[in-house]
Amino acid sequence: MIRLKPLMLAAAVGLSAFSAAASSYAAGQVEVLHWWTSGGEAKSVAELKKLLEKEGYTWKDFAVAGGGGDSAMTVLKSRAVSGNPPTAAQIKGPEIQEWAELGFLTNLDDVADKNNWDKLLPKVVADGMKYEGHYVAVPVNVHRVNWMWGNPEVMKKAGVETMPTNWDEFFADADKIKAAGFIPLAHGGQDWQDATTFEAVALSVGGPEFFRKAFVDLDDDALGGETMVKTLKTFKRLRDYIDPDAAGRDWNLATAMVINGKAAFQIMGDWAKGEFLNAGKVAGKDFLCAAVPGTANAYTYNIDSFAMFKVKNKDDKAAQDALARIIMEPTFQKVFNLNKGSIPVRPDIDMADFDACAHKSMEDFQADAKAGTLLPSMAHGMAASSYVKGAIYDVVTNFFNDADMTAEEAAERLVKAVDAAG
Ligand code: BGC
Repeated sequence: MIRLKPLMLAAAVGLSAFSAAASSYAAGQVEVLHWWTSGGEAKSVAELKKLLEKEGYTWKDFAVAGGGGDSAMTVLKSRAVSGNPPTAAQIKGPEIQEWAELGFLTNLDDVADKNNWDKLLPKVVADGMKYEGHYVAVPVNVHRVNWMWGNPEVMKKAGVETMPTNWDEFFADADKIKAAGFIPLAHGGQDWQDATTFEAVALSVGGPEFFRKAFVDLDDDALGGETMVKTLKTFKRLRDYIDPDAAGRDWNLATAMVINGKAAFQIMGDWAKGEFLNAGKVAGKDFLCAAVPGTANAYTYNIDSFAMFKVKNKDDKAAQDALARIIMEPTFQKVFNLNKGSIPVRPDIDMADFDACAHKSMEDFQADAKAGTLLPSMAHGMAASSYVKGAIYDVVTNFFNDADMTAEEAAERLVKAVDAAG
């Protein structure tokens, strides 16, 4: 549940007055909150703006920098509390229902019915966009999170021929890469990036069932047991393979280290591919994509979506409906995802122009959906409430940065922190 509830409820009541007063433009305006500010991200969101403006509406950009979106969510909360939320905001996972429960979100069923969203979307995606059976958000894409990116030239110079498929291979390769004078793993020391790496290690060490028990069911035995201890130990070993300047580094700067041949690998969702593409690099030639070692048979997903806030003004409502419709249309689904590194959220979109990494993502998404190994990313807010996510972030980051904290201690803290937040 989103904190500040009473304040926000009060704000929601006052909201209609604001929205009615605020617009003085002809064809309707949408103010869109997002955190897509890296090179690849900015290029992608510009496509949405273009398509909306083509229909005569006005796009007011409300970009809040900060990978993973935590800063954007903080700003959103303060805007909402003051009775002034944007028309649309990039909100993901269970947070969509948290906002809907507070009464902030509008009903999109008309747009959804007219445009057949129920038929076009995989059920797991459609369900995530609804509150009490009604659409309140629209999905943009599917990002796979458990990817590792590689620079083939650096690998070759270090005598590493293929992407590692398990941790033993990874550590052996990483030693060779270090010996050859390169950084084995590009990493940005921010809590959400630590958590992105940590959940991938958990998936490989414990497997999909363990992942689900720990991060979806929040099961104490999984969070505090032996498998978690082993996960934490493997995770901490990675510290020996990142450079001393990682603290605070943005994720796209870590990707740039792989692009520029300073580092061999990065563990990051496929928004990293947007950076490779934006730098003119070609998949399979200039960069490689592979599942994080030991996770080839599972898929952690992260679905970007826009939740739509209540607006009073008729013109702005029309603009908001148009935005929702455009996001689900094939033109946007294709052009946006080609730039962003993700795959279309609609399985019926023609994938001919997409690269091998995107094809692999689409095939694995479908195979893992059938096999029951499609898993919501904890690190990207798809698995549990924002509070549980924050609690896990804290423990994981403190452990990663504290040479003295043992894995056993961290596992114990994880149980306590999740229980307190849940
Ligand atoms: C979002 C991506 C974004 C990434 C880095 C993720 O949580 O889903 O769209 O590119 O954060 O900011």
